[in-house]
Amino acid sequence: MIKVTALPEFIIQREEEHTELTAPLSTLLRDISLSAKIVNREVNKAGLVDILGSAGTTNVQGEMVQKLDKFANERFIAAFQTGGECCGIASEEYEDFLCFEDHLGMHPKYLVTMDPLDGSSNIDVNVSVGTIFSIYSRLSESGLCTPEDFLQPGTEQVAAGYVIYGSSTMLVYTTGHGVNGFTLDPSIGEFCLSHPDIKIPKTGKIYSVNQGNYDLFEEGVKRYIDYCHESDPETNRPYSHRYIGSMVADIHRSLIKGGIFFYPATKVSPRGKLRLVYECNPMAFIVEQAGGRATDGKNRIVELKPNGLHDRVPIFIGSPDMVLKAEELVQKHKP
Ligand code: AHG
Ligand code: MN
Ligand code: MN
Repeated sequence: MIKVTALPEFIIQREEEHTELTAPLSTLLRDISLSAKIVNREVNKAGLVDILGSAGTTNVQGEMVQKLDKFANERFIAAFQTGGECCGIASEEYEDFLCFEDHLGMHPKYLVTMDPLDGSSNIDVNVSVGTIFSIYSRLSESGLCTPEDFLQPGTEQVAAGYVIYGSSTMLVYTTGHGVNGFTLDPSIGEFCLSHPDIKIPKTGKIYSVNQGNYDLFEEGVKRYIDYCHESDPETNRPYSHRYIGSMVADIHRSLIKGGIFFYPATKVSPRGKLRLVYECNPMAFIVEQAGGRATDGKNRIVELKPNGLHDRVPIFIGSPDMVLKAEELVQKHKP
Protein backbone atom coordinates (compact mmCIF):
# COMPACT_ATOMS: atom_id res chain seq x y z
CA MET A 1 0.00 0.00 0.00
CA ILE A 2 1.70 3.25 -1.13
CA LYS A 3 1.54 5.96 1.57
CA VAL A 4 0.08 9.23 0.26
CA THR A 5 1.94 12.25 1.66
CA ALA A 6 -0.09 15.41 1.22
CA LEU A 7 1.71 18.75 1.01
CA PRO A 8 0.57 20.10 4.43
CA GLU A 9 1.92 16.96 6.14
CA PHE A 10 5.19 17.19 4.20
CA ILE A 11 5.62 20.87 5.13
CA ILE A 12 5.14 20.06 8.83
CA GLN A 13 7.57 17.12 8.61
CA ARG A 14 10.24 19.43 7.12
CA GLU A 15 9.50 22.10 9.73
CA GLU A 16 10.24 19.52 12.45
CA GLU A 17 13.48 18.42 10.72
CA HIS A 18 14.97 21.88 10.09
CA THR A 19 14.85 24.60 12.74
CA GLU A 20 15.14 27.45 10.23
CA LEU A 21 11.86 26.31 8.65
CA THR A 22 9.45 28.20 10.88
CA ALA A 23 5.71 27.79 11.43
CA PRO A 24 5.01 31.14 9.67
CA LEU A 25 6.93 29.87 6.61
CA SER A 26 4.85 26.69 6.65
CA THR A 27 1.70 28.79 6.79
CA LEU A 28 2.91 30.92 3.88
CA LEU A 29 3.64 27.83 1.78
CA ARG A 30 0.17 26.52 2.55
CA ASP A 31 -1.35 29.89 1.57
CA ILE A 32 0.45 29.62 -1.78
CA SER A 33 -0.75 26.06 -2.38
CA LEU A 34 -4.36 27.01 -1.63
CA SER A 35 -4.23 29.93 -4.07
CA ALA A 36 -2.63 27.65 -6.66
CA LYS A 37 -5.62 25.30 -6.38
CA ILE A 38 -7.99 28.22 -6.96
CA VAL A 39 -5.99 29.47 -9.96
CA ASN A 40 -5.87 25.89 -11.25
CA ARG A 41 -9.67 25.74 -11.14
CA GLU A 42 -9.90 28.87 -13.32
CA VAL A 43 -7.16 27.66 -15.70
CA ASN A 44 -8.97 24.35 -16.15
CA LYS A 45 -12.29 25.93 -17.04
CA ALA A 46 -10.85 28.98 -18.79
CA GLY A 47 -12.53 28.07 -22.05
CA LEU A 48 -15.95 27.98 -20.41
CA VAL A 49 -15.98 31.26 -18.55
CA ASP A 50 -15.09 34.78 -19.49
CA ILE A 51 -11.50 34.51 -18.29
CA LEU A 52 -9.71 34.03 -21.58
CA GLY A 53 -8.24 36.80 -23.62
CA SER A 54 -6.94 40.20 -22.76
CA ALA A 55 -7.95 42.25 -19.74
CA GLY A 56 -7.61 45.31 -21.97
CA THR A 57 -4.71 46.78 -19.98
CA THR A 58 -0.93 46.66 -20.28
CA ASN A 59 1.42 45.93 -17.39
CA VAL A 60 4.69 47.56 -16.42
CA GLN A 61 6.38 45.36 -19.01
CA GLY A 62 4.26 46.98 -21.69
CA GLU A 63 2.63 43.60 -22.32
CA MET A 64 -1.11 43.03 -22.73
CA VAL A 65 -2.42 41.71 -19.40
CA GLN A 66 -4.45 38.55 -19.87
CA LYS A 67 -7.54 38.13 -17.72
CA LEU A 68 -5.95 35.08 -16.11
CA ASP A 69 -2.82 37.12 -15.30
CA LYS A 70 -5.03 39.56 -13.44
CA PHE A 71 -7.09 36.85 -11.72
CA ALA A 72 -4.01 34.92 -10.58
CA ASN A 73 -2.26 38.08 -9.39
CA GLU A 74 -5.27 39.20 -7.33
CA ARG A 75 -5.83 35.70 -5.94
CA PHE A 76 -2.28 35.33 -4.59
CA ILE A 77 -2.21 38.87 -3.22
CA ALA A 78 -5.52 38.31 -1.39
CA ALA A 79 -4.08 35.16 0.19
CA PHE A 80 -0.93 36.95 1.37
CA GLN A 81 -2.87 39.99 2.58
CA THR A 82 -5.25 37.92 4.74
CA GLY A 83 -2.76 35.20 5.72
CA GLY A 84 -0.79 37.57 7.96
CA GLU A 85 2.61 35.89 7.36
CA CYS A 86 3.73 38.11 4.49
CA CYS A 87 4.81 41.76 4.84
CA GLY A 88 4.74 42.52 1.13
CA ILE A 89 4.95 41.24 -2.43
CA ALA A 90 6.70 42.19 -5.66
CA SER A 91 4.68 40.98 -8.64
CA GLU A 92 5.37 41.01 -12.36
CA GLU A 93 2.00 42.69 -12.72
CA TYR A 94 2.83 45.72 -10.55
CA GLU A 95 5.43 48.42 -11.22
CA ASP A 96 6.28 48.76 -7.53
CA PHE A 97 6.12 46.38 -4.59
CA LEU A 98 3.09 46.20 -2.30
CA CYS A 99 3.36 46.41 1.50
CA PHE A 100 0.65 44.86 3.65
CA GLU A 101 -0.57 46.54 6.85
CA ASP A 102 0.17 44.34 9.87
CA HIS A 103 -3.52 44.41 10.79
CA LEU A 104 -3.28 41.15 12.77
CA GLY A 105 -0.28 42.37 14.78
CA MET A 106 1.66 39.27 13.63
CA HIS A 107 4.83 41.20 12.67
CA PRO A 108 5.34 39.12 9.47
CA LYS A 109 8.97 38.34 8.69
CA TYR A 110 8.62 37.09 5.10
CA LEU A 111 8.06 38.68 1.71
CA VAL A 112 7.23 37.15 -1.68
CA THR A 113 8.32 37.91 -5.22
CA MET A 114 6.03 36.39 -7.82
CA ASP A 115 5.19 35.83 -11.45
CA PRO A 116 1.54 34.95 -10.87
CA LEU A 117 0.96 33.59 -14.37
CA ASP A 118 3.96 32.59 -16.48
CA GLY A 119 3.51 31.85 -20.16
CA SER A 120 0.50 34.12 -20.62
CA SER A 121 0.76 33.92 -24.41
CA ASN A 122 -0.20 30.25 -24.11
CA ILE A 123 -3.38 30.69 -22.07
CA ASP A 124 -5.78 31.00 -25.02
CA VAL A 125 -4.33 28.03 -26.88
CA ASN A 126 -4.53 25.57 -23.98
CA VAL A 127 -0.78 25.13 -23.54
CA SER A 128 0.81 24.72 -20.10
CA VAL A 129 1.28 27.86 -18.02
CA GLY A 130 2.64 28.35 -14.52
CA THR A 131 3.17 30.42 -11.40
CA ILE A 132 6.65 31.20 -10.01
CA PHE A 133 7.46 32.44 -6.49
CA SER A 134 10.34 33.21 -4.16
CA ILE A 135 10.18 33.78 -0.40
CA TYR A 136 12.73 35.96 1.43
CA SER A 137 13.14 37.06 5.04
CA ARG A 138 12.62 40.82 5.30
CA LEU A 139 15.77 42.87 6.02
CA SER A 140 13.86 45.80 7.54
CA GLU A 141 13.06 45.36 11.23
CA SER A 142 9.40 46.32 11.29
CA GLY A 143 6.83 48.64 9.79
CA LEU A 144 6.39 48.91 6.04
CA CYS A 145 8.77 46.89 3.86
CA THR A 146 11.49 48.70 1.92
CA PRO A 147 12.99 48.48 -1.59
CA GLU A 148 16.07 46.72 -0.14
CA ASP A 149 13.80 43.95 1.14
CA PHE A 150 12.92 43.08 -2.47
CA LEU A 151 16.34 43.58 -4.08
CA GLN A 152 18.20 40.82 -2.24
CA PRO A 153 20.40 38.45 -4.28
CA GLY A 154 18.88 35.04 -4.99
CA THR A 155 21.28 33.41 -2.53
CA GLU A 156 19.09 34.91 0.23
CA GLN A 157 15.95 33.01 -0.85
CA VAL A 158 14.34 31.08 2.01
CA ALA A 159 12.14 29.12 -0.39
CA ALA A 160 11.24 29.07 -4.07
CA GLY A 161 8.77 27.14 -6.15
CA TYR A 162 6.57 26.93 -9.17
CA VAL A 163 3.19 25.58 -10.09
CA ILE A 164 2.73 24.10 -13.56
CA TYR A 165 -0.85 23.96 -14.81
CA GLY A 166 -0.36 21.24 -17.42
CA SER A 167 -1.61 17.73 -18.19
CA SER A 168 -1.67 17.55 -14.43
CA THR A 169 -1.11 20.38 -11.96
CA MET A 170 2.10 20.16 -9.98
CA LEU A 171 3.72 22.25 -7.27
CA VAL A 172 7.52 21.94 -7.13
CA TYR A 173 9.44 23.74 -4.40
CA THR A 174 12.61 23.94 -2.34
CA THR A 175 13.52 25.39 1.06
CA GLY A 176 17.20 24.70 0.49
CA HIS A 177 16.95 21.02 1.40
CA GLY A 178 16.44 19.50 -2.04
CA VAL A 179 13.50 19.74 -4.44
CA ASN A 180 10.18 17.93 -4.12
CA GLY A 181 7.24 17.74 -6.53
CA PHE A 182 3.58 17.40 -5.60
CA THR A 183 0.79 16.49 -8.02
CA LEU A 184 -2.72 17.81 -7.40
CA ASP A 185 -5.24 15.01 -6.87
CA PRO A 186 -8.50 16.75 -7.81
CA SER A 187 -10.56 13.98 -6.18
CA ILE A 188 -9.28 14.98 -2.73
CA GLY A 189 -8.15 18.56 -3.54
CA GLU A 190 -4.64 17.91 -2.20
CA PHE A 191 -1.14 18.24 -3.64
CA CYS A 192 0.37 14.78 -3.05
CA LEU A 193 4.09 13.95 -3.04
CA SER A 194 4.75 12.40 -6.46
CA HIS A 195 8.37 13.41 -7.21
CA PRO A 196 10.43 13.12 -4.00
CA ASP A 197 13.96 14.57 -3.99
CA ILE A 198 14.13 15.54 -7.68
CA LYS A 199 17.64 15.41 -9.19
CA ILE A 200 18.24 16.81 -12.68
CA PRO A 201 20.15 14.50 -15.06
CA LYS A 202 23.79 15.64 -15.46
CA THR A 203 23.25 15.93 -19.21
CA GLY A 204 20.41 15.54 -21.68
CA LYS A 205 19.35 15.47 -25.30
CA ILE A 206 16.96 18.43 -25.45
CA TYR A 207 17.79 22.09 -25.94
CA SER A 208 15.16 24.80 -25.50
CA VAL A 209 15.52 28.27 -26.98
CA ASN A 210 13.46 30.53 -29.23
CA GLN A 211 15.17 29.62 -32.54
CA GLY A 212 13.38 32.54 -34.17
CA ASN A 213 15.91 34.83 -32.50
CA TYR A 214 18.94 32.99 -33.98
CA ASP A 215 20.13 35.90 -36.12
CA LEU A 216 19.84 38.25 -33.11
CA PHE A 217 22.07 36.16 -30.82
CA GLU A 218 25.76 36.81 -30.12
CA GLU A 219 28.29 34.55 -31.89
CA GLY A 220 28.86 32.17 -28.99
CA VAL A 221 25.15 31.43 -28.60
CA LYS A 222 24.87 30.72 -32.33
CA ARG A 223 27.90 28.36 -32.02
CA TYR A 224 26.17 26.51 -29.16
CA ILE A 225 22.95 26.11 -31.16
CA ASP A 226 25.05 24.85 -34.11
CA TYR A 227 26.74 22.42 -31.66
CA CYS A 228 23.26 21.12 -30.68
CA HIS A 229 22.52 20.50 -34.39
CA GLU A 230 25.76 18.59 -35.17
CA SER A 231 25.63 14.80 -35.63
CA ASP A 232 27.70 13.00 -33.01
CA PRO A 233 26.18 9.73 -31.76
CA GLU A 234 28.71 9.61 -28.90
CA THR A 235 27.19 12.71 -27.34
CA ASN A 236 23.61 11.95 -28.43
CA ARG A 237 23.65 14.79 -30.98
CA PRO A 238 21.82 16.21 -32.79
CA TYR A 239 19.75 17.13 -29.75
CA SER A 240 15.99 17.52 -30.03
CA HIS A 241 14.58 21.04 -29.89
CA ARG A 242 11.59 21.68 -27.63
CA TYR A 243 10.30 25.19 -26.88
CA ILE A 244 6.91 25.73 -25.25
CA GLY A 245 7.13 29.47 -24.60
CA SER A 246 6.32 29.00 -20.92
CA MET A 247 9.52 29.19 -18.88
CA VAL A 248 8.01 27.01 -16.15
CA ALA A 249 7.10 24.23 -18.61
CA ASP A 250 10.43 24.32 -20.47
CA ILE A 251 12.41 24.19 -17.24
CA HIS A 252 10.17 21.57 -15.60
CA ARG A 253 10.81 19.27 -18.60
CA SER A 254 14.57 19.89 -18.28
CA LEU A 255 14.40 19.14 -14.54
CA ILE A 256 12.70 15.79 -15.10
CA LYS A 257 14.28 14.61 -18.39
CA GLY A 258 17.52 16.60 -18.50
CA GLY A 259 18.17 19.40 -20.94
CA ILE A 260 19.03 23.09 -21.21
CA PHE A 261 16.73 26.11 -21.44
CA PHE A 262 18.22 29.42 -22.42
CA TYR A 263 16.90 32.91 -23.08
CA PRO A 264 20.01 34.85 -24.11
CA ALA A 265 20.52 38.53 -24.79
CA THR A 266 19.59 39.57 -28.33
CA LYS A 267 20.39 42.64 -30.43
CA VAL A 268 16.83 43.79 -29.66
CA SER A 269 16.84 42.88 -25.94
CA PRO A 270 20.45 43.30 -24.73
CA ARG A 271 19.52 41.96 -21.26
CA GLY A 272 17.32 39.18 -22.57
CA LYS A 273 13.64 38.94 -21.65
CA LEU A 274 13.29 37.02 -18.38
CA ARG A 275 13.14 38.86 -15.07
CA LEU A 276 15.75 38.20 -12.39
CA VAL A 277 13.65 38.80 -9.27
CA TYR A 278 10.56 36.67 -9.93
CA GLU A 279 11.45 34.32 -12.78
CA CYS A 280 15.20 33.59 -12.97
CA ASN A 281 16.10 33.61 -9.25
CA PRO A 282 13.38 31.19 -8.11
CA MET A 283 13.98 28.83 -11.04
CA ALA A 284 17.76 29.02 -10.50
CA PHE A 285 17.42 28.19 -6.78
CA ILE A 286 15.26 25.16 -7.61
CA VAL A 287 17.48 23.86 -10.43
CA GLU A 288 20.67 24.30 -8.38
CA GLN A 289 19.04 22.47 -5.45
CA ALA A 290 18.30 19.62 -7.89
CA GLY A 291 21.99 19.50 -8.91
CA GLY A 292 21.69 21.69 -12.00
CA ARG A 293 23.33 24.95 -13.07
CA ALA A 294 21.90 28.42 -13.74
CA THR A 295 24.00 31.34 -15.01
CA ASP A 296 23.82 34.41 -17.20
CA GLY A 297 26.41 32.79 -19.48
CA LYS A 298 29.11 33.30 -16.89
CA ASN A 299 27.89 34.28 -13.40
CA ARG A 300 25.54 32.31 -11.16
CA ILE A 301 22.06 33.84 -11.46
CA VAL A 302 21.51 33.71 -7.67
CA GLU A 303 24.64 35.80 -7.03
CA LEU A 304 23.51 38.70 -9.23
CA LYS A 305 22.45 41.81 -7.29
CA PRO A 306 19.11 43.15 -8.54
CA ASN A 307 18.98 46.92 -9.08
CA GLY A 308 15.31 47.06 -9.95
CA LEU A 309 12.27 44.81 -9.42
CA HIS A 310 11.94 44.16 -13.15
CA ASP A 311 15.62 43.74 -14.10
CA ARG A 312 16.01 41.34 -17.02
CA VAL A 313 18.96 38.94 -17.27
CA PRO A 314 20.14 36.44 -19.88
CA ILE A 315 19.72 32.90 -18.51
CA PHE A 316 21.20 29.48 -19.27
CA ILE A 317 19.68 26.86 -16.95
CA GLY A 318 19.41 23.08 -16.70
CA SER A 319 21.66 20.01 -16.80
CA PRO A 320 25.09 21.14 -15.58
CA ASP A 321 27.15 19.58 -18.40
CA MET A 322 24.96 21.26 -21.04
CA VAL A 323 25.01 24.69 -19.36
CA LEU A 324 28.81 24.46 -18.98
CA LYS A 325 29.18 23.66 -22.70
CA ALA A 326 27.01 26.64 -23.64
CA GLU A 327 29.06 28.89 -21.31
CA GLU A 328 32.33 27.60 -22.85
CA LEU A 329 31.24 28.63 -26.37
CA VAL A 330 29.68 31.91 -25.20
CA GLN A 331 32.88 32.92 -23.37
CA LYS A 332 35.15 31.67 -26.19
CA HIS A 333 33.41 33.84 -28.78
CA LYS A 334 32.93 36.93 -26.64
CA PRO A 335 33.70 39.97 -28.81
P1 AHG B 1 5.15 35.85 -18.81
O1 AHG B 1 3.97 35.21 -19.47
O2 AHG B 1 5.12 35.77 -17.32
O3 AHG B 1 5.41 37.25 -19.34
O4 AHG B 1 6.43 34.99 -19.20
C1 AHG B 1 6.63 34.63 -20.53
C2 AHG B 1 8.08 34.35 -20.73
C3 AHG B 1 8.47 32.94 -20.37
O5 AHG B 1 7.49 32.21 -19.73
C4 AHG B 1 8.83 32.31 -21.70
O6 AHG B 1 9.94 31.46 -21.57
C5 AHG B 1 9.16 33.51 -22.56
O7 AHG B 1 8.35 34.56 -22.09
C6 AHG B 1 8.86 33.26 -24.01
O8 AHG B 1 9.29 34.43 -24.68
P2 AHG B 1 9.33 34.46 -26.29
O9 AHG B 1 7.91 34.37 -26.73
O10 AHG B 1 10.00 35.76 -26.60
O11 AHG B 1 10.16 33.29 -26.73
MN1 MN C 1 6.90 34.79 -16.78
MN1 MN D 1 3.67 36.44 -16.01
